[in-house]
Amino acid sequence: MGIIENLLGIKYPLFQGGMTMIANYKLVSAVSNAGGLGILASAGLTKDELRAEIKKTKELTKNPFAVNLMLMNKNIPELIDVIIEESVKIVSTGAGTPKPYMEKLKENNIKVIAVIPNVKVAKKMEDIGVDIVVAEGGESGGHVGETTTLSLVPQIVDAVNIPVIAAGGIADGRGIAAAFSLGAKGVQLGTLFLTTEECVIPNSIKQAIIDAVDTSTTVVGRQKGIPFRSIKNDILQKYYNLELGEGTKEDLDRLKNEALSAAIVKGDSENGLIMVGQISGLITRIRPVKEVVETLFIEYNETIKKLQEI
Ligand SMILES: Cc1cc2nc3c(=O)[nH]c(=O)nc-3n(C[C@H](O)[C@H](O)[C@H](O)COP(=O)(O)O)c2cc1C
Repeated sequence: MGIIENLLGIKYPLFQGGMTMIANYKLVSAVSNAGGLGILASAGLTKDELRAEIKKTKELTKNPFAVNLMLMNKNIPELIDVIIEESVKIVSTGAGTPKPYMEKLKENNIKVIAVIPNVKVAKKMEDIGVDIVVAEGGESGGHVGETTTLSLVPQIVDAVNIPVIAAGGIADGRGIAAAFSLGAKGVQLGTLFLTTEECVIPNSIKQAIIDAVDTSTTVVGRQKGIPFRSIKNDILQKYYNLELGEGTKEDLDRLKNEALSAAIVKGDSENGLIMVGQISGLITRIRPVKEVVETLFIEYNETIKKLQEI
């Protein structure tokens, strides 16, 4: 059993990234039941909504799961109170530093996993007592940094003494083996889990991800917004035109939020933003979470065997 499995009490060193508006109790409980770490998204939820998600997750799994906190949100202190009251023992954090909350989280024996985009931030996270860092490369879906997973992971591994998880561009066992060769102790996947049966997004959007090829995504938001990776379609072009033109940050945020809902809630693949990673070209079908998780580690073992035969 590896360090991550021991630390978190899970079977596989595999996290399902906490994806805003998507990673709900159904996906999270399925991943945790399959032996990975399901991570509930909390961005945009009130404390009562988060409590309801946690309770429903607990009804469906007895295994550990985590809550993702997007730290720019204003209601983080009350979400943390709910996490403590509901005895969730793992949080993952993004979009800021968990420093103001570390004392409270540690007092309550909560493990903290921080998603980081570079060495400087990784070192800061280690200094404030974070347990695990997720080094997320720019291939990922959603909001992204610049550095690729292949370049980022070994640099983070050399810079810190806490376990490093690799994220971005992984959707099969070969990717997991590659991450481990770079020194990662586990992996976090987002895009692959979007195409699972248990994921809440409409089938039209899952199909758009399956139809995507290696060059289907790009990053916008580098000029005025927060950079994010999404499938190239009419609405992404509209966002980009607005960004290059007169659009303010507020205009861009409004368009982004509306277009995200159009995809995630209405299933509109042309007027909806489909935030996915570059690895979507590797995904060919919708499968149940259990099959996805088990196949990943069968493929991983096959890859390691093949490497030994070289
Ligand atoms: C649609 C979407 C939404 C995401 N939202 C969040 C989020 O709210 N919080 C977070 O920490 N990471 C978020 N991520 C990043 C994932 O947790 C994960 O690190 C990333 O998807 C891994 O790269 P991959 O997509 O290549 O597998 C999101 C990713 C996607 C695709």
